Amino acid sequence: MFETMKPAPADKILALMAQFREDSRTDKVDLGVGVYKDENGDTTVMRAIRAAEARLHDKQTTKTYVGPQGDKEFCAAMGDLVFGNTVPKDRLRVCQAPGGSGALSILGMLINRARPGATVWLSDPTWPNHTPLLTGAGLKTKSHPYYDAATGEVLFDEMIEALGAAEKGDVVLLHGCCHNPTGADLTIDQWKAVAELCVEKGLLPFIDFAYLGFGDGLDKDAEGLRLLAKIAPEFVVAASCSKNFAVYRERVGAAMIIGATAAEADTAFSQLLSVARSVYSMPPDHGAAIVKMVMQDPELIDDWKNELEEMRRRMMQLRQDFADALRKASNSDRFDFIARQKGMFSRLGLSPEQIETLRAEHGIYIIGDSRINIAGLPGDGLDDLARKIVAVAS
Ligand SMILES: Cc1ncc(COP(=O)(O)O)c(C=O)c1O
Repeated sequence: MFETMKPAPADKILALMAQFREDSRTDKVDLGVGVYKDENGDTTVMRAIRAAEARLHDKQTTKTYVGPQGDKEFCAAMGDLVFGNTVPKDRLRVCQAPGGSGALSILGMLINRARPGATVWLSDPTWPNHTPLLTGAGLKTKSHPYYDAATGEVLFDEMIEALGAAEKGDVVLLHGCCHNPTGADLTIDQWKAVAELCVEKGLLPFIDFAYLGFGDGLDKDAEGLRLLAKIAPEFVVAASCSKNFAVYRERVGAAMIIGATAAEADTAFSQLLSVARSVYSMPPDHGAAIVKMVMQDPELIDDWKNELEEMRRRMMQLRQDFADALRKASNSDRFDFIARQKGMFSRLGLSPEQIETLRAEHGIYIIGDSRINIAGLPGDGLDDLARKIVAVAS
């Protein structure tokens, strides 16, 4: 069976992680891996999650199957978290999924059932897993310009012009907030323009929402998507709880459908459950049960929001401090965009050779496209880091 197979290419981020672990330098810095880290470099369990987990341990009476939709109360709570009251509930359907990746995947397969081989437009650049997840679901991908490395801003006119070539029935994948890998987000006016274009051309918006709460705060981060809900009759959302609830390995996410009518939402949802059933049958329960408990308990949800806000503010401060340190080291505004961008990632704009020099000479680990994890920045070593980066960058 497997004698003619060639090994799959190694995952570059995982390879870099392994290299970092083996590096014996004590002052090494990991800016590669995409997980939130605290000031000690740890990715800890959030307080509310820990409390809910203990309660679940005491209260859970069965581990019987949950069904393809997963936990219905978790699904309802996720719908509320993402949309508030901005979409009519009779057109919204939510299915629990194994992480944001699982949600992207089953929604991709759902679209492929509706329109086999449909084209999904992706921003250039985008999260590298978008392409394999969506092509794995049977879809095709095309990309549109998105990011201006010289200014750190969105190339909005170019994006709209490229999407002008999209055909009815194509799909436009948008990052809900905190664009990965660039940190450059659409403004609310730009969201409106994209929503109107999608309606005018008959394109399906597909929102990947992996960093809700990491940019400007929970409600503000959802503004673009909530505006879209007012303009676009139908769209889909893949939400992840990995980062904002810090439950990465528990695989918690949700796939959402907003149908043009309640009847269409029902039909599409029945197909979505059938896709889930055919791939993994049912999502894992443990993480979603804990997240649900947090979202349903007034004390736990307050504590979760407070801790999430502490994380967000820490990243904002690191952005500002790092941009200041780079300004001082470079005597220029070249890196000022870092303070303006949002979420966990920004791109430094370095070449692969410069990135390799930083790793080899200074133990600074950055992935090949020069994306850095803001949460991994050493708060007390920013001047030193900035000097080393500027030295290789100039
Ligand atoms: C843009 C984006 N979408 C989706 C995901 C999926 O996250 P997960 O499958 O871990 O929930 C990630 C994770 O890094 C991401 O960065």
